[in-house]
Amino acid sequence: MLEKAFAKGMALTLTVAVAFIQAGAQSSAKLTIHSDRPVSKVSPTLYGLMTEEINYSYDGGLYAEMVRNRTVESDWSGILHWILLENGSAQAKIGVDKGTGPSKALDHSLRIDVVKANAENQAGVLNDGYWGMAVRPETTYKGSFWAKADGAEVGPVTVALVNNQTGKAEAKATVTGVGTEWKQFAFTLKTGAVEASAQNHLELTVGHTGTLWLSLVSLFPPTYRDRPGGFRVDLMEKLAAMHPQFLRFPGGNYLEGDHIAERYEWKKTIGPLVDRPTHRSPWGYRSTDGMGLLEFLEWCEDLKMNPVLAVYAGYSMAQEHVTPGADLEPYVQDALEEIEYVTGGADTKWGAVRVKDGHPARFKLTYVEIGNEDQFDHSGSYDGRYAQFYKAIKAKYPELELIATTPVKSVRPDVIDDHYYVRAQEFFRDQTHYDKADRTGPKIFVGEWATREGAPTPNFGAALGDAAWMTGLERNSDLIVMASYAPLLTNVNPGGLQWDTDLIGYDALRSYGSPSYYAQVLFASYLGSETPASKLEGVGPEGAVPKFFYSVTRDAAKKKLYVKLVNASTTAQALEIDLPGAKLAADGKLVMLHAHSTQATNTIEHPTQVVPVESALHGVGAKMEHTLPGLSVEVMVLDEM
Ligand code: AHR
Repeated sequence: MLEKAFAKGMALTLTVAVAFIQAGAQSSAKLTIHSDRPVSKVSPTLYGLMTEEINYSYDGGLYAEMVRNRTVESDWSGILHWILLENGSAQAKIGVDKGTGPSKALDHSLRIDVVKANAENQAGVLNDGYWGMAVRPETTYKGSFWAKADGAEVGPVTVALVNNQTGKAEAKATVTGVGTEWKQFAFTLKTGAVEASAQNHLELTVGHTGTLWLSLVSLFPPTYRDRPGGFRVDLMEKLAAMHPQFLRFPGGNYLEGDHIAERYEWKKTIGPLVDRPTHRSPWGYRSTDGMGLLEFLEWCEDLKMNPVLAVYAGYSMAQEHVTPGADLEPYVQDALEEIEYVTGGADTKWGAVRVKDGHPARFKLTYVEIGNEDQFDHSGSYDGRYAQFYKAIKAKYPELELIATTPVKSVRPDVIDDHYYVRAQEFFRDQTHYDKADRTGPKIFVGEWATREGAPTPNFGAALGDAAWMTGLERNSDLIVMASYAPLLTNVNPGGLQWDTDLIGYDALRSYGSPSYYAQVLFASYLGSETPASKLEGVGPEGAVPKFFYSVTRDAAKKKLYVKLVNASTTAQALEIDLPGAKLAADGKLVMLHAHSTQATNTIEHPTQVVPVESALHGVGAKMEHTLPGLSVEVMVLDEM
């Protein structure tokens, strides 16, 4: 309820008087803010998203497809997630047919040989989904499959969403017309007054003997903004609440692949699904590539994010690299064509392909990242590879800002992408990291960062580390143009997680934000446009790692001052806030994220144990006294008069 209220921007109002120092608080510290003396600009694109196919982020996550292994991959154990169904006296067998499929890309299929069946005793297959399938009341599901049969008699095909526990069909449809040539069929499943549950599966059965081949079986619930083949509504709403300004995609390691042959090949992820071959990803499962290049761009469009397009730069993680020069040229060309697909008009070759794929409008592109974490390429080839991409892209697209994944010498990158995965203690120590950094060199993109404490999602201790780190990002956002937490998403089911500590967790039906998620929502909701001069005195014992952090920003257009305070100590901290010369409305707002232990967290079963609480702040003025409880993150929102 509280989470809902927060997400909808409804304040849970408590009243807090600022002139109150809590008993037992650490001795008072003093924060002086000269709100009329801006010292630096805040990057308007500071906070954004980084994602890749990891932890079932897209398949089994954001990409709302309910059918798992829709293209019928198999291993030694059989056909993954597809099970033979023999109802009553029906008899059948199933297998993968490598000799026929609906397209060149999907050259195999699921073959069902029905030896005995009738209308009451049907045979076929079931799909168990991504740890179940979410079924909700009064909801319409849109499905399709490709099929052919050895004769017209085998049809019609009955499709049903069936409850795992009761065996009851919650929605049913019949598809007729399956013939001897591959063809796509569409169907709709509509539920009635059923109970919402994730414990469901999909059945496809026939009531006649014969052979049926299936491929690309698909089922989607209603999606965000009703995009066909689109995104999960609950996850998109959670992402929207983060006010993300950009999306870095498609990786991460997912861009590189373990081997060159397993890199993210954008051309194999566009166009009709039936022409996408799918590919092995480095995170241990196959990607459907339903989340292809155009889908990433549409995701940007839906949340008004700027794409930060990472192009494959000739290095894959098993220490495979492409030598700069002639060998690398096809990869450079591929990146140029990718940029043309994103930004080109209908009069360009790849712009025209995008138009044909259903998106006539060109996408705005500012940043292109060349590779990912190329410091791990032990051959040292990145300098040469980066320079080759840089020169070719700048020659055709001089307006683009090109990001290097590690420092290089032969050309000067526009931006460098720095990554940090640490414990809270390290972020407390290192939040001043960029305070003295060179302002004359490339800009900084903190393209991956996270306090790694808590699994599958970060706990409150991690949120404190993250909040401390974000104060440093904001203070230095004249230099840091963008920053994104990683990984963003995880399916919390056993086997769903490849990387501990991910911002947002979900199963087929539900999702929740971690304490770190809410810390980010707070920071991004009150970003500001400039950093005024400020000074903090008297915090913490001399020589100790400080556990108190702050950032002050001002929104010049909205005439608001945002004071972000982080008390990572377990003891309350008294604070005198001086705003010399400031004329402020007496009433402001305080938003607080607080827990009693660093181990406090949210889970799929208990999603709102740590959520922000809003309260009214009275007695605001040029001199205030305020006490932060131990283990708290606060944002004071003050109105200038
Ligand atoms: O975020 C998980 C992984 O961490 C990313 O794929 C990679 O870039 C980094 O090493």
